[in-house]
Amino acid sequence: MPKLTIEGVGEFEVDNGIRLVLAIGDNDGDINYACGGNARCTTCRVKFSVGEPDKYTKAEYEKLSQTNSIGEYRLSCQCLIDGDMSVAVLDRFSISGRPDPGSRPDDNITPNAEWVVP
Ligand code: FES
Repeated sequence: MPKLTIEGVGEFEVDNGIRLVLAIGDNDGDINYACGGNARCTTCRVKFSVGEPDKYTKAEYEKLSQTNSIGEYRLSCQCLIDGDMSVAVLDRFSISGRPDPGSRPDDNITPNAEWVVP
Protein backbone atom coordinates (compact mmCIF):
# COMPACT_ATOMS: atom_id res chain seq x y z
CA MET A 1 0.00 0.00 0.00
CA PRO A 2 1.26 3.50 -0.72
CA LYS A 3 2.44 5.60 2.18
CA LEU A 4 0.97 9.05 2.64
CA THR A 5 2.92 11.46 4.81
CA ILE A 6 0.95 14.46 6.01
CA GLU A 7 3.60 16.88 7.17
CA GLY A 8 3.32 17.72 10.84
CA VAL A 9 0.78 14.95 11.38
CA GLY A 10 2.15 11.52 10.51
CA GLU A 11 2.40 8.67 8.03
CA PHE A 12 -0.50 6.54 6.89
CA GLU A 13 -0.94 3.54 4.61
CA VAL A 14 -3.62 4.37 2.07
CA ASP A 15 -5.35 2.58 -0.80
CA ASN A 16 -3.89 3.04 -4.24
CA GLY A 17 -6.13 4.97 -6.62
CA ILE A 18 -8.17 6.92 -4.10
CA ARG A 19 -8.55 10.69 -4.16
CA LEU A 20 -5.85 12.43 -2.17
CA VAL A 21 -8.39 14.72 -0.47
CA LEU A 22 -10.19 11.67 0.92
CA ALA A 23 -6.95 9.99 1.98
CA ILE A 24 -6.09 13.12 3.97
CA GLY A 25 -9.59 13.65 5.30
CA ASP A 26 -10.05 10.05 6.39
CA ASN A 27 -6.69 9.85 8.16
CA ASP A 28 -6.22 13.34 9.53
CA GLY A 29 -9.58 15.00 9.06
CA ASP A 30 -8.02 18.44 9.09
CA ILE A 31 -8.56 19.68 5.56
CA ASN A 32 -11.20 21.77 3.87
CA TYR A 33 -13.07 20.88 0.69
CA ALA A 34 -15.57 23.70 0.47
CA CYS A 35 -16.74 22.98 -3.07
CA GLY A 36 -17.15 19.27 -2.39
CA GLY A 37 -14.14 18.28 -4.47
CA ASN A 38 -15.05 19.95 -7.75
CA ALA A 39 -11.94 22.06 -8.46
CA ARG A 40 -13.75 25.32 -7.75
CA CYS A 41 -12.63 26.55 -4.31
CA THR A 42 -8.89 25.71 -3.79
CA THR A 43 -9.48 25.05 -0.05
CA CYS A 44 -8.15 21.49 -0.52
CA ARG A 45 -4.78 22.80 -1.70
CA VAL A 46 -1.61 20.96 -0.75
CA LYS A 47 2.10 21.38 -1.37
CA PHE A 48 3.94 18.22 -2.39
CA SER A 49 7.44 17.38 -1.23
CA VAL A 50 7.31 13.78 -2.55
CA GLY A 51 5.28 12.10 -5.25
CA GLU A 52 3.64 15.02 -7.03
CA PRO A 53 1.66 13.65 -9.99
CA ASP A 54 2.80 14.72 -13.45
CA LYS A 55 -0.71 14.93 -14.79
CA TYR A 56 -3.51 17.33 -13.93
CA THR A 57 -7.20 17.12 -14.50
CA LYS A 58 -8.31 19.72 -16.99
CA ALA A 59 -10.44 21.29 -14.21
CA GLU A 60 -7.45 21.56 -11.87
CA TYR A 61 -5.17 22.97 -14.51
CA GLU A 62 -7.72 25.61 -15.49
CA LYS A 63 -8.32 26.60 -11.85
CA LEU A 64 -4.62 26.87 -11.04
CA SER A 65 -4.03 28.84 -14.23
CA GLN A 66 -6.79 31.31 -13.28
CA THR A 67 -5.10 31.93 -9.91
CA ASN A 68 -1.51 31.93 -11.24
CA SER A 69 -0.80 28.97 -8.97
CA ILE A 70 0.78 26.45 -11.33
CA GLY A 71 3.87 25.19 -9.50
CA GLU A 72 2.72 26.66 -6.18
CA TYR A 73 0.28 24.03 -4.97
CA ARG A 74 -2.07 21.28 -6.13
CA LEU A 75 -5.73 20.61 -5.55
CA SER A 76 -5.91 17.38 -3.54
CA CYS A 77 -9.43 16.73 -4.80
CA GLN A 78 -8.01 16.38 -8.31
CA CYS A 79 -5.10 14.07 -7.44
CA LEU A 80 -5.17 10.30 -7.10
CA ILE A 81 -2.88 8.28 -4.85
CA ASP A 82 -0.51 6.49 -7.23
CA GLY A 83 2.48 5.87 -4.97
CA ASP A 84 4.15 7.25 -1.88
CA MET A 85 3.36 10.90 -1.32
CA SER A 86 4.28 13.58 1.18
CA VAL A 87 2.19 16.72 1.39
CA ALA A 88 1.63 19.79 3.52
CA VAL A 89 -2.03 20.73 3.91
CA LEU A 90 -2.23 24.48 3.26
CA ASP A 91 -5.78 25.22 4.46
CA ARG A 92 -6.46 23.29 7.65
CA PHE A 93 -10.05 23.05 8.83
CA SER A 94 -9.04 23.43 12.48
CA ILE A 95 -7.68 26.94 11.96
CA SER A 96 -9.84 28.07 9.04
CA GLY A 97 -12.78 29.38 11.04
CA ARG A 98 -15.15 27.52 8.75
CA PRO A 99 -18.20 25.89 10.41
CA ASP A 100 -17.55 22.67 8.50
CA PRO A 101 -14.98 21.46 5.95
CA GLY A 102 -17.56 21.10 3.17
CA SER A 103 -19.59 18.27 1.69
CA ARG A 104 -17.59 15.04 1.51
CA PRO A 105 -16.18 14.68 -2.01
CA ASP A 106 -17.40 11.76 -4.11
CA ASP A 107 -15.20 8.67 -4.29
CA ASN A 108 -14.53 9.44 -7.97
CA ILE A 109 -12.96 12.61 -9.30
CA THR A 110 -15.51 15.28 -10.08
CA PRO A 111 -16.07 16.80 -12.54
CA ASN A 112 -15.27 13.75 -14.72
CA ALA A 113 -11.50 13.69 -15.13
CA GLU A 114 -9.97 14.75 -18.44
CA TRP A 115 -6.23 14.40 -17.93
CA VAL A 116 -3.62 16.84 -19.19
CA VAL A 117 0.16 16.76 -18.91
CA PRO A 118 1.49 20.31 -19.28
S1 FES B 1 -11.04 22.72 -5.18
FE1 FES B 1 -12.72 22.66 -3.80
S2 FES B 1 -12.41 20.81 -2.75
FE2 FES B 1 -10.77 20.84 -4.15
